[in-house]
Amino acid sequence: ERVALAFSGGLDTTVCVGLLEEEYGYDEVIGVTVDVGQPAEEFEEAEETAEALGVETHVVDAREEFAQLCLDSLKANATYQGYPLGTALARPVIANAILETAIEEDCDAVAHGCTGKGNDQLRFEAIWRDSDLEVIAPVRELELTREWEIEYAEERGLPVESGNEGDWSIDTNLWSRSVEGANLEQPNYVPPEEIYDWTDAPGNKQETDLVEIEFEQGEPVAVDGEAYGPVELIEHLNERAGAHGVGRTDMMEDRMLGLKVRENYEHPAATVLLNAHEALEGLVLTQEEREFKAQVDQQWAKKAYQGLIDAPLVGALEGFIEETQKRVTGVATIKLEGGSARPVGRESEYAAYSEEAASFNTETVEGQGITQKDATGVAKYHGYQGRLANAVTKSVDGD
Ligand code: ARG
Ligand code: SIN
Repeated sequence: ERVALAFSGGLDTTVCVGLLEEEYGYDEVIGVTVDVGQPAEEFEEAEETAEALGVETHVVDAREEFAQLCLDSLKANATYQGYPLGTALARPVIANAILETAIEEDCDAVAHGCTGKGNDQLRFEAIWRDSDLEVIAPVRELELTREWEIEYAEERGLPVESGNEGDWSIDTNLWSRSVEGANLEQPNYVPPEEIYDWTDAPGNKQETDLVEIEFEQGEPVAVDGEAYGPVELIEHLNERAGAHGVGRTDMMEDRMLGLKVRENYEHPAATVLLNAHEALEGLVLTQEEREFKAQVDQQWAKKAYQGLIDAPLVGALEGFIEETQKRVTGVATIKLEGGSARPVGRESEYAAYSEEAASFNTETVEGQGITQKDATGVAKYHGYQGRLANAVTKSVDGD
């Protein structure tokens, strides 16, 4: 019997290798590591760990697919309680890649190292339970704690990181880096600078940086006039905005099970791109489109958070989103400064904006015959109904 394990080389998945053999009786564990843009060191670590454990590993490159999904999420301005959904978006990509490998390798089961406390178990299994393979979740099923895992790994001399890095549970991909667990579980514990890896302390850098992001139909295609593919574009902005401390989120996250969890994220590129995209939408979409789209976007983000981007609702929402993105072509300028990525300019040939109409310095709008004085009638009516209602209420109150 063979089992394919979602393998990152981290503590949970390392411990799972032994347990799948010892507790579940599998003859062979195949570790599958999916590349969604984690830093190179993680792969080296995963490889070393796999070697020490004597497990065969497969690396699946899903960077392009994942980067594209991140850019799709941008069209929906997707965030959940302020976090740009890196972990959530990566899970279906990883789950699918593992399932495909498991089938190719004639496995009988698939396994993950997620706890029974979090979201990731649900996101993996939503995909795996659509197959005939058995689904195994050792950490949840054997009710393991991180402390128990650390002891188990030490007893067997398994190669896992020691110190804080080992205590924290870290999840990394192109779109975000998440750090949770151990002392960070106290909501009032102020994280030390060392939990951050992608962002320098905001304010460290004295100079500011202006970044021009060019969009074509809602998708970023160039930075400062230079064309980039999705992966390189995100990598470039992570570096560049990370240097200004952009994209740190420290939050209480309401998870799917209903638990609140203290979570820390870093997502420099995502923050820059989300701010730039929204700035451009602000120029080209009508007010009513923006208001309605905010609701559509929120629903899209919710399904993405749940790991359910294949749900029929998502396709329907994307029909609307794509329609609006036809005009989201142009350039937004973002200023990187002291931890913030602030829109400071936007231009588009599709702007729903007339400088002539809005300017305090023009008298009439050429060709439309609209003058300042035309607003007088609107001003007379503005709030009229409320004034009437208030007058009536006063007489009812009897004073
Ligand atoms: N709570 C986050 C989410 O559900 C991220 C969890 C990432 N995992 C980790 N071990 N840090 O999207
Ligand atoms: C885990 O439970 O393994 C990580 C956190 C999560 O899934 O939200």
